[in-house]
Amino acid sequence: MPMRVTVIGTGYVGVVTGACLAYLGHRVTCVDTDEGKIARLRRGESTIYEPFLPELLVAAAARGGIDFETELGAAAAESEVIFIAVGTPPLATGEANLSFLEAAARSTGAAMDAGRFRVVVNKSTVPVGSGNLVEALVREGIDEVRPAERRRIRFGVASNPEFLREGSAISDSLYPDRIVTGASDRETLVAMQELYRPLVEQSFDPPPGVPRPAGIKRVPMVTTTLTSAEMIKYAANAFLAMKIGFANEIANICEHVGAEAPEVMTGIGLDSRIGAKFLAPGIGWGGSCFGKDVSALLHTAQEYNYDSRLLRASLEVNAAQRLMVIQKLQEKLFILKGRTIGLLGLAFKPDTDDLRDAPSLHIAERLLQMGARLKAYDPVAMSACREQRPDLKIRFCESARDVAAEADALVLVTEWREFRDLDLADLARVMTRPVLVDGRNLFSPAAAAAAGFDYTGIGRPGPRTAGQAAEPSPAGQSS
Ligand SMILES: NC(=O)c1ccc[n+]([C@@H]2O[C@H](COP(=O)([O-])OP(=O)(O)OC[C@H]3O[C@@H](n4cnc5c(N)ncnc54)[C@H](O)[C@@H]3O)[C@@H](O)[C@H]2O)c1
Repeated sequence: MPMRVTVIGTGYVGVVTGACLAYLGHRVTCVDTDEGKIARLRRGESTIYEPFLPELLVAAAARGGIDFETELGAAAAESEVIFIAVGTPPLATGEANLSFLEAAARSTGAAMDAGRFRVVVNKSTVPVGSGNLVEALVREGIDEVRPAERRRIRFGVASNPEFLREGSAISDSLYPDRIVTGASDRETLVAMQELYRPLVEQSFDPPPGVPRPAGIKRVPMVTTTLTSAEMIKYAANAFLAMKIGFANEIANICEHVGAEAPEVMTGIGLDSRIGAKFLAPGIGWGGSCFGKDVSALLHTAQEYNYDSRLLRASLEVNAAQRLMVIQKLQEKLFILKGRTIGLLGLAFKPDTDDLRDAPSLHIAERLLQMGARLKAYDPVAMSACREQRPDLKIRFCESARDVAAEADALVLVTEWREFRDLDLADLARVMTRPVLVDGRNLFSPAAAAAAGFDYTGIGRPGPRTAGQAAEPSPAGQSS
């Protein structure tokens, strides 16, 4: 049965959630306080770079229906399910900033009347205990507007953490490994089961461009308490961040002992207890989630007087890994002051324009502090970089070749697909010094050397003594 749904927040999570639910047949209104975003969405423009999102928005409008509003009131009043998908960025202390969530929960309460039972679903990543906070704030909102009706207005709170990865957000949302829902009452859980029935049963036709992966027949729905659902999200991200950090630690040791890290990762990833994903050595993870979620979990543990050394180490290992690039450049060029360094890629990973906590920005900051000159090319994230970081003196280029021209070194920062097919010999020819630091192990060391590059990757100590040159690792990862 189609349900009436409101989604508060039209960022990466909100707009994808709204579009997918409408595609499944629900009637969706997406609400955002950012008038510019809503105006663009109403014109049919996507506000983020996400493959197949524009097409999905068109299909969603034709199926269940989707519209975009700046005012929450009318949509929330009509809805059976209200998602909160606002940002929870980190504060300087590492805690999650809950001010957007608090405002959204309060205004949800203010929009409610006694007409129907509603479920307020927290999709934002929030610290353990926030489900209770949302409930209290919805009540406060009700008390502000309809104090007399307080006892007759019925609602439940659910925690439904999001596991999508930017760049494959639509596929992750329509064909998830699992759906996690926490709630403290049965009526709320039943409403969530009804909402997600088409997804659980996979009873919909796949949208164009986003085929159903082979073998998916039913999606498991994990139902649990609010607190456990909140903890599942943090634990999942902390584990993934730690797994990448582990691969990087091993890669750094591989460099010392002369082992090929990508091959080591293939060797351990084939162990079904370990799994091949998130084991690619590189310059570390970035993005809006891992850093903030690991910091927030660390902070929560500290509130209970528990010092999580493993989580702390994950953050430290990742911060150090980003600067490995600088060390490698120093080994090749000795002096960085006055040298021209070209960055290939800026986005924190391919297929997104998201620059939140992107390693590229830390590398750029450090290189500029050291007196280097910077050029960069990214297929989609350059305008975001210009807009968000005008302080970074980067010369933005039209192509990878423009970046290479007269550069003293190239650093591959983001493994965009188009970089795989670069004519390396041509790039090496136009550079002042053909130095290539491959921060994602995208290229074959042998091919780079044959093209004339002085190549260095991550965890790849040098010429091989036997067999073929190592090929890029299959141990892909994207957060
Ligand atoms: N981006 C991801 O890959 C991802 C993945 C899983 C979970 N999450 C979590 O989901 C949440 C949202 O993340 P995001 O990346 O979509 O954030 P975002 O910053 O891209 O978008 C948040 C949106 O909420 C809007 N907003 C803020 N306060 C509002 C209010 N009171 N009413 C209406 N709109 C309001 C903002 O204007 C913004 O458009 C975060 O908690 C994040 O940790 C994100």
